Amino acid sequence: MRAIHIVTTRLSSSFIRPVLLDFVSCSPLRQFSTPRRFICAASKVNGGSRSGSIVAPLVVNEEFQNIDVNPPKGTRDFPPEDMRLRNWLFNHFKEVSRLFGYEEVDFPVLETEALFIRKAGEEIRDQLYCFEDRGNRRVALRPELTPSLARLVIQKGKSVSLPLKWFAVGQCWRYERMTRGRRREHYQWNMDIIGMPEVTAEAELISSIVTFFKRIGITASDVGFKVSSRKVLQEFFKKYGVPEDLFGRVCIIIDKIEKIPIDEIKKELGFTGISDDAIEQLLQVFSVKSLDDLEDILGGAGEAIADLKQLFSLAEKFGYSEWIQFDASVVRGLAYYTGIVFEGFDREGKLRAICGGGRYDRLLSTYGGDDIPACGFGFGDAVIVELLKEKDLLPELGQEVENIVCALDKDLQGAATTIATALKDKGQTVDLVLESKPLKWVFKRAARVNARRPVLVGKLVRSVSRFCLQVSNFKSNLMTWSCSI
Ligand code: HAM
Repeated sequence: MRAIHIVTTRLSSSFIRPVLLDFVSCSPLRQFSTPRRFICAASKVNGGSRSGSIVAPLVVNEEFQNIDVNPPKGTRDFPPEDMRLRNWLFNHFKEVSRLFGYEEVDFPVLETEALFIRKAGEEIRDQLYCFEDRGNRRVALRPELTPSLARLVIQKGKSVSLPLKWFAVGQCWRYERMTRGRRREHYQWNMDIIGMPEVTAEAELISSIVTFFKRIGITASDVGFKVSSRKVLQEFFKKYGVPEDLFGRVCIIIDKIEKIPIDEIKKELGFTGISDDAIEQLLQVFSVKSLDDLEDILGGAGEAIADLKQLFSLAEKFGYSEWIQFDASVVRGLAYYTGIVFEGFDREGKLRAICGGGRYDRLLSTYGGDDIPACGFGFGDAVIVELLKEKDLLPELGQEVENIVCALDKDLQGAATTIATALKDKGQTVDLVLESKPLKWVFKRAARVNARRPVLVGKLVRSVSRFCLQVSNFKSNLMTWSCSI
């Protein structure tokens, strides 16, 4: 049992008198999980009772239907405990972006299907959630944010001054085979720079991801970035006389090197018309792990090597050299990249790519706009949570509210409401108990919602005053606040 100091203050014309109150110290919040089961929902098409009635789906014959209480496969609910984690993560995404001077943008989740259809045979196209709307338009749930960003940049035209530094956090949909950290919907944090041809753009983008990792406790011994350039392939194409229009297609095939057997890769490359000799050389190029070896194999330093060398030199200036390494096998699975590409990976090799991005200088012209140099990255919300779990770095996030206000007597509910309103007017968060409850109940709830101050509105036993206001501080047991309304 602990003693709590109570304040005296004036509430309208009523005096608040100090009272000494004993209460049992509160137990920590216990989390509970929702049981997986089916519920029975009442479905009344033509009116019926309000309680429990839902709007009926288009074809429902029965009065009642059993619904699966789980969300569709690969999608998630966000109950409060998950929502707290999501907000924590998104706040870091947003704070880091703002730290680097980027402005937030957003786009519709539903876009025209054509925006996502590219000819290179990307996996992402087969994973599209697409359908015809009621106006017979082909639409799709966005699988990524970059095409929408390109669309908006074209739409804005000359009204915006370059370079643009934009960021977005949005939900993406891909009908993906489910593995650890890969879902059918995920949120992606994107940062993009439009109108900057220099490698300084890529260097800054990687720096912002490193900043994010450091903020959440991830170090260079947990995570690294594999970096390469698609210009390597361009130079190879030139050397072997491979037609340029095969570029996107070949990138998509090369991206599968670590996912499917090498004979399959050779077969797929063969279908493009590339000679067997060139295929062998190509596979050799993509197995290279050092810039010097690449220089040897390509027969001199071209643009790819120059860009990569510049990136490594800038990494030193930004202070993240230990995070990045050259790896020619990184090509990325999207057709539009044209220059430096990079992927964040966990050093233990347990998870899929944590994030990825690169330069896409020609995406805008594929939509009919003028080409503007651009680069950016996408960072999903799923793999990073798996990594934080692995490293035991998940934050402990409880509900937080400053005050819990409760009337201890039914006829004081109005007074409690007035006090709660006054507190909220002062910018304080309040959990107002909406019916009178006994003390024991209030303290239990206060512990559950992590309320810092219980504000109890009750009648004084030995006083002529109408109200008493009991204010205490749970954590320190000391009065730190007084109410003047
Ligand atoms: P992406 O590599 O397809 O690139 O996706 C970027 C990141 O999104 C991945 O590294 C991963 O963290 C996350 N992600 C992708 N698919 C899933 C999934 N099915 N489940 C969970 N997480 C997933 C892009 O989307 C590019 N548009 C990124 C970009 C922006 N490039 C330039 N600007």
